[in-house]
Amino acid sequence: MGAMAGAGKGVVYLVGAGPGDPDLITVKGRRLIEGCDALVHDFLVAEEMKGWVKGGCEVYDVGKRSGRHTLEQGRICELLVELAGRGLRVVRLKGGDPFVFGRGGEEAEALRRAGIGYEVVPAVTAALGCAAYSGIPLTHRDWSSAVTILSGHPCTENEADRIDWEVHARGGATLVLYMAMGRLEGICGQLIEGGRAAGTPAAVIEWGTTARQKSVRGTLGDIAPRVAEAGLGAPAVVIIGEVAALGDELQWFDPGI
Ligand SMILES: C[S@@+](CC[C@H](N)C(=O)[O-])C[C@H]1O[C@@H](n2cnc3c(N)ncnc32)[C@H](O)[C@@H]1O
Repeated sequence: MGAMAGAGKGVVYLVGAGPGDPDLITVKGRRLIEGCDALVHDFLVAEEMKGWVKGGCEVYDVGKRSGRHTLEQGRICELLVELAGRGLRVVRLKGGDPFVFGRGGEEAEALRRAGIGYEVVPAVTAALGCAAYSGIPLTHRDWSSAVTILSGHPCTENEADRIDWEVHARGGATLVLYMAMGRLEGICGQLIEGGRAAGTPAAVIEWGTTARQKSVRGTLGDIAPRVAEAGLGAPAVVIIGEVAALGDELQWFDPGI
């Protein structure tokens, strides 16, 4: 099994780094980092992973910090094509999973267009990592049989990209919001207007799975002011649903609540 690389041609591995704790990367992901000729990584990638590369490996930080793009997405795609075009084995290391709000789809499309072979290596996405490391089971036979992962920040200006919060307010699915810190109060308000009870448990987890992890728990009605008071910001996920209350009892990693 392997990527679709032709003889002598480079290849790009779109590797998920996981949510923060370097031990959460897959065995395959780590093996590829250790063997690659070029590492192209994001901001939300553990420092430690950069030390896994072999001597002589080219390392590129193309990290995007909110509102401050180190390298535009188009340039990142060009860089991947250029490096693989030189015959290198390239690891494109992305925070969390490459195909969950990671623009891995766009990079795979660019590689395919350029005729470059690629593989996608999945990883623990922030929703799963943060839930596990704060003792919140996203599903539970007594409380929730569905999970919906949503972006709190529209990815594009397209109408189709707009989230209908009323739809998600209905039903009992656990909601996990990424990139929602800038609009938390408004989103919670829309969910309440849409019919989710203001008393629904909610939790916000910042820098989940890392030594910097902090979380705040409350309800849909008061989580936004609680988060503001605690000074939490990106990167963070918001978990909304009855299961969020289980973190009080089941939390094992984050003692400082
Ligand atoms: C551009 S998205 C990338 C998501 C990533 N591909 C994944 O699968 O987790 C960035 C957002 O993911 C969430 N995120 C990523 N890492 C996180 C962490 N360690 N703790 C909390 N949220 C995190 C935050 O909502 C952040 O704003």
